[in-house]
Amino acid sequence: MGLLSQSAFAFFAAARLRTAWAALGVVAFDKLLQGNSQQTVFSQNDIPDPWSHEPSCFRSTSIATAGKQFCIYTANTTGPTGVSIITTPEAAQTIEELQFLDDNPLDNFLTHQQAQELFTKDPPYEVRKVEGKGLGVFATRKILKYETVMIDQASVVEDMEIEKAFSAQEARTMLAQAVNQLRRPQIVRAMSSDHGGHDSSDTEDDDDDGEGKLETDIMLTNAYGSEVTGRKFRNLFPLISRINHACSPNSYVLFSRAGISMAIKTYRDIEAGEELSVSYLTLGQTFAHRTHALRRWGFTCTCSLCTLPSTAKAESDLRRSLIAQSDSKILEMWNADKYSDAIGLAIEGIQMIKDEGLEHFLTDQYALLAKLWMLAGERKKAEAWARKSWDMLAGMGYLGNEDEQEMWDMETFLERVGSGAMKAVNRVPASLRDGGGSKEGLGVDERLVEVQK
Ligand SMILES: *[C@@H]1O[C@H](CO)[C@@H](O)[C@H](O)[C@H]1NC(C)=O
Ligand SMILES: [Zn+2]
Repeated sequence: MGLLSQSAFAFFAAARLRTAWAALGVVAFDKLLQGNSQQTVFSQNDIPDPWSHEPSCFRSTSIATAGKQFCIYTANTTGPTGVSIITTPEAAQTIEELQFLDDNPLDNFLTHQQAQELFTKDPPYEVRKVEGKGLGVFATRKILKYETVMIDQASVVEDMEIEKAFSAQEARTMLAQAVNQLRRPQIVRAMSSDHGGHDSSDTEDDDDDGEGKLETDIMLTNAYGSEVTGRKFRNLFPLISRINHACSPNSYVLFSRAGISMAIKTYRDIEAGEELSVSYLTLGQTFAHRTHALRRWGFTCTCSLCTLPSTAKAESDLRRSLIAQSDSKILEMWNADKYSDAIGLAIEGIQMIKDEGLEHFLTDQYALLAKLWMLAGERKKAEAWARKSWDMLAGMGYLGNEDEQEMWDMETFLERVGSGAMKAVNRVPASLRDGGGSKEGLGVDERLVEVQK
């Protein structure tokens, strides 16, 4: 019970992201350039838990965030490398109060038995070289559908507001210090260019060996987005970042704020020797959109979906467009009092989603149907669809581990589903789906979706 009450379970679909640095701010930067000398002035006793270092703080003088403070907070015993978080003092205080850096990330993803399985045996994967992609992660045994393969904790967590608040060089210098303060900074620095593609010539200022350049490139190429304490962050997970991209991936990520952790789980059974893949992009995009979006990582995708023959590719794109438009069509019908048409279309959508291999979208499609039947006053039917959604979400790990799932009684779930599906009806897609937040035109920030109990 203690576990349940303090785990403050939160999960987010996370998506890899990379945004250009905005060189807006100017700051009194001499403090930062003095390096870490200030830290010797303080005794360890002055530093609140869980931090191991005196926070280094910098004031933004950019117009957007004038006077706002951002500090580097390091907890050098958290996770495999320690963690450095660059954020506001208010957010850091919330982290102190909620104590979630002390939470055991395993509790959110695994039962005790599963944890023993995963950690007493050899890991079910190995990291090795892949032709043309740098490193990749491969299954070393058969992995079952929805199995948790990997759990990782963040090394660097960077508030997305940094890029508005500071100049590019200032942000780089802060990032370099954040990495320096880790217990094992070399693990982060060793991550440069592992995905083989990142082309540093497309970043804004290009002084190759400038301080923090390496760390910034690593962050841009490898970080996953998430939301913690209501703020948006870029998170660097050294182990998980080894997994390469595929547009129709066999695995997905699940984020938890407990220890700022992320798990890799599988969509389907995976054979020994198969490479694990996740989508760096929001799922469901057409070939042209994917190709464009992947340029940020500097590679041309050769996944099974992108290398389909042109007719099959066109069919896939058409289905994807129809799926993307489906929610607004349904809403349109609903608003025109064509209730059974709306429900019929939602049911057709299920097949289209399956045909396109976008099973992850089903959780939302089922939830949408639950909501529509609720609105139609058919509670039994609503519950049946809600149950399907619940089962799938539970199977995928979105409702916590088995102990926690019991907290989601049908009443709570329908309420949650209701608000989620309502959002879908109101054309905010994907309350519950991985990386599903964004359709074209939304920025990277909008990819993040959150469900919290
Ligand atoms: C972690 O931080 C503490 C406090 O600053 C320091 O004494 C210790 O040496 C650090 N450990 C490592 C491995 O960096
Ligand atoms: Zn692809």
